[in-house]
Amino acid sequence: MATMESLIGLVNRIQRACTALGDYGGGDQAFSSLWDALPSVAVVGGQSSGKSSVLESIVGRDFLPRGSGIVTRRPLVLQLQKTEDGREYAEFGHLPRRRFSDFASVRKEIEDETDRITGKTKQISPVPIHLSIYSPNVVNLTLIDLPGLTKVAVEGQAQTIVEDIENMVRSYVEKPNCIILAISPANQDIATSDAIKIAREVDPSGDRTFGVLTKLDLMDKGTNAIDVLEGRSYRLQHPWVGIVNRSQADINKNVDMMAARRKEREYFATSPDYGHLASKMGSEYLAKLLSRHLESVIRARIPSITSLINKSIDELEAEMDHLGRPIALDAGAQLYTILELCRAFDKIFKEHLDGGRPGGDR
Ligand code: GDP
Ligand code: NA
Ligand code: MG
Repeated sequence: MATMESLIGLVNRIQRACTALGDYGGGDQAFSSLWDALPSVAVVGGQSSGKSSVLESIVGRDFLPRGSGIVTRRPLVLQLQKTEDGREYAEFGHLPRRRFSDFASVRKEIEDETDRITGKTKQISPVPIHLSIYSPNVVNLTLIDLPGLTKVAVEGQAQTIVEDIENMVRSYVEKPNCIILAISPANQDIATSDAIKIAREVDPSGDRTFGVLTKLDLMDKGTNAIDVLEGRSYRLQHPWVGIVNRSQADINKNVDMMAARRKEREYFATSPDYGHLASKMGSEYLAKLLSRHLESVIRARIPSITSLINKSIDELEAEMDHLGRPIALDAGAQLYTILELCRAFDKIFKEHLDGGRPGGDR
């Protein structure tokens, strides 16, 4: 029987196939509702709250574009897949046959691919970039990096950009299957957090929001974030996780991600304020917590996902019939891939429903 880990892998593959199909103009209703039914984790927060840093720490690699202003200008769908054989590489949805083992070129490709759609302007686009990272240092997880919420447009940007970003972020986080990773910096009042503001709006009960508090090391001396981390300042159904990312000075000194993870662990282990919470703090703990949660959400959604998949299979078969021989070769191949994936899903999900009885009668 397939393990839950391979279920996340399968969800990843079907998400990729749905998107590729959308690119060929075949984005039918059934596929977008299938996509929406598949749970994923969206990363939201204000500019410079530490979103990119948290993502890089979860991945254990430096690979995201950085700079001032709005750096993330298209959603980045980041699919992490743990490898057991030590291999580490990245693949983009738009470059299916190319493997990147140098993470500096991954960064360059994200920048170039962003510009390909938005031009060399500072505009944003809702068209996602798909990036899969295979590594021994990750847990199985899908994360969507979104443009940072901002309060003012800078020179060269349309005045509407503030609202455009907020609407783009909202279009992800308002979906009931979206798990919200809400990033707030500890050196600002939590009451003013952009992440918490939008999370509260779309998920008032805090059911699907994970609160992350970055920059604990940058708080004023004599203050601490215990009230936030213990859930007294803003209550969520899931525990808050505190994080210490690399500072700008660390980045300038090229402190690598593995050293940064170590430093973070030490910070919590030796902290007089947070020592008692040490085992539930830090980016590695956060990654495990999210992966476990994603697995349990997928498991709970199996019946509804299966019924959507069956609907999609019917629709795909009708479309294949209608096409006869694939007219656009790529579109036909994609339809075929997604059909195969749907069948694989259906089979594995049914096995899970049957409690994994091999050859269970149905
Ligand atoms: P983003 O705009 O939300 O993606 O934020 P970044 O991850 O790019 O971080 C913005 C700046 O804050 C960078 O200079 C980071 O080095 C710094 N930073 C982020 N998190 C922390 C943290 O936990 N501690 C410290 N000291 N600096 C941080
Ligand atoms: Na940002
Ligand atoms: Mg960023």
